[in-house]
Amino acid sequence: MCGITGYIGKNKNAISVVISGLEALEYRGYDSAGVAYTENNKLNIIKEQGKIVNLKKNIDFDIESNLAIGHTRWATHGEPNKINSHPHSQGKFTIVHNGIIENYLELKKELINAGYEFKSSTDTEVAASYMDFIYSKNNDILKTLNEVSKVFRGSYAFGIICNDDLNNLYALRKTSPLIIAKGENENYIASDVPAILKYTNKYILLDDFEIAKINSNEIKIYNQDLELIQKEILEFEGTFESSMKCGYEHFMLKEIHEEPTVFENTINAYLDDDFKNLPDLSKYDNIHIVACGSAYHTGLIGKYLIEKYAKIPVYVEVASEYRYKHNFYDKKTLVILVSQSGETADTLASLRKVKEDGIDTLSIVNVVGSSIARESKYVIYTKAGCEIAVATTKAYLSQVTIFAIITMYLTNNKSKEILDEINNIPSILENSVNIDYKEIANEIYKSKNIFFIGRGIDYALCMEGSLKLKEISYINSVAYQAGELKHGTISLIEKDTPVIAISTDDTLVEKTISNIKEVKARGAKVIFITSSDIDGDFYDYKINIKRTHELLQSIITIVPLQLIAYEVAKLNECDIDKPRNLAKSVTVE
Ligand code: F6R
Repeated sequence: MCGITGYIGKNKNAISVVISGLEALEYRGYDSAGVAYTENNKLNIIKEQGKIVNLKKNIDFDIESNLAIGHTRWATHGEPNKINSHPHSQGKFTIVHNGIIENYLELKKELINAGYEFKSSTDTEVAASYMDFIYSKNNDILKTLNEVSKVFRGSYAFGIICNDDLNNLYALRKTSPLIIAKGENENYIASDVPAILKYTNKYILLDDFEIAKINSNEIKIYNQDLELIQKEILEFEGTFESSMKCGYEHFMLKEIHEEPTVFENTINAYLDDDFKNLPDLSKYDNIHIVACGSAYHTGLIGKYLIEKYAKIPVYVEVASEYRYKHNFYDKKTLVILVSQSGETADTLASLRKVKEDGIDTLSIVNVVGSSIARESKYVIYTKAGCEIAVATTKAYLSQVTIFAIITMYLTNNKSKEILDEINNIPSILENSVNIDYKEIANEIYKSKNIFFIGRGIDYALCMEGSLKLKEISYINSVAYQAGELKHGTISLIEKDTPVIAISTDDTLVEKTISNIKEVKARGAKVIFITSSDIDGDFYDYKINIKRTHELLQSIITIVPLQLIAYEVAKLNECDIDKPRNLAKSVTVE
């Protein structure tokens, strides 16, 4: 997700402040970075692909500057290259932007007709040009920003410099986050508190459509009617680490709450314009999916969806096995490697082995530029942003989203029915992440063993729910195919043993209920997670999941499993974000 910083003042070097702010925002994830700064009343722009260290190599930190804006870009419109990175400049306006201007193509046409030329494929360059276009008519910066805020559709947070007024820094926002921070004879803008915490803890939250005009001594905020308004100055009281958590007690909870946005970003990146940015996947007869842990579980969901809808055989294997065994593939096989970090040793080794055999590889990776992404033939980046909690949540959700998109691509299904369902998912997720599972957690957190049962795609979800619970709460938990329990494991069920049963497939719900009754009869405490409206006395708790298309159902159903794991771990006072013995990036075999 893009990060914005900005500084105006005489006390510090504007370039250094802006760069250090960007470094504090690195957790948001990005693939290029840039700054614009004044030097002797002239504005310069420096930008680079890749990490901030690349950018820093090109910057002379001895330059005296008292006004700068900076940006880390997470590519949405156009490749993650230098040309597309921010700041963008047109005429008298230089801007950094977080968000998406949905009507940018329409505006671009209008601007081309008016004589503007474009170097990048970004919506941001269009936004800068549009500001310049309006300003050329009214010669008034505030009026210009007010007018564009009514024209731009979508989401935006802008840091803005106009050549005609290098004594002020401007900002404007709708939906995307932006704060204005207050110092002594210096002021700042930033996407998030960590960027400014080194310098000040006082800040103002800019609301939708408000415009900020900032110089070193004064912050003026204007409403939609261009009236000057008073805003409350807030004080952040936590530490740098707590600021990164944005008020959440743990990164895991914060990341679960980011899931609606992650879903939207992932969909926006690949679904439009005939599955833009997807490689040609239609030429393969069979697919192997190779991954570890949760990423392997998303592979199981991928297998289920691709086999059922695209009718292509899919073989899924954990990477630590796959790399050492004989695999049956040929030139018509596509091997898909799934990894959040892109550095997992076994997944990387599997990729290298497959490549050596001349087989095509596609990686589904979150960390841009990571080894697995770089070494595979094709890459699809999940748009989860930086994930800090060791237990994956939002990255898992974005991987499942990618498998839904791949299935739609392979079946060429962009029906109205599915697109409508996709549009509904962010608000369903928004509700889901806010549901309280403390009562259920309270019922199960002292248990020694917890079982998850389900059939078909729900079994794949059970595997993930079970892993999430055990890795952060340290309670032994096992996932079973619902029909398999009676072949041995049912002997472990005794009075009050928690069994979490998942059923989102109506064709199998009766069968699963029969299996639930088998454990209930032996004293199990049953938590029934379902999208069906069947009720009865076979469960102790029921969690209703909104019904959606099967391609998308797992994306919704995983949320209560993640939240239950979180609440149980919290009651057990576990180190939720850093569970014992685990690492975020498993670079050893
Ligand atoms: C569990 C979890 C792990 C990872 C696994 C693979 O919550 O996060 O099971 O899924 O270690 O890691 P990546 O996806 O980085 O290859």
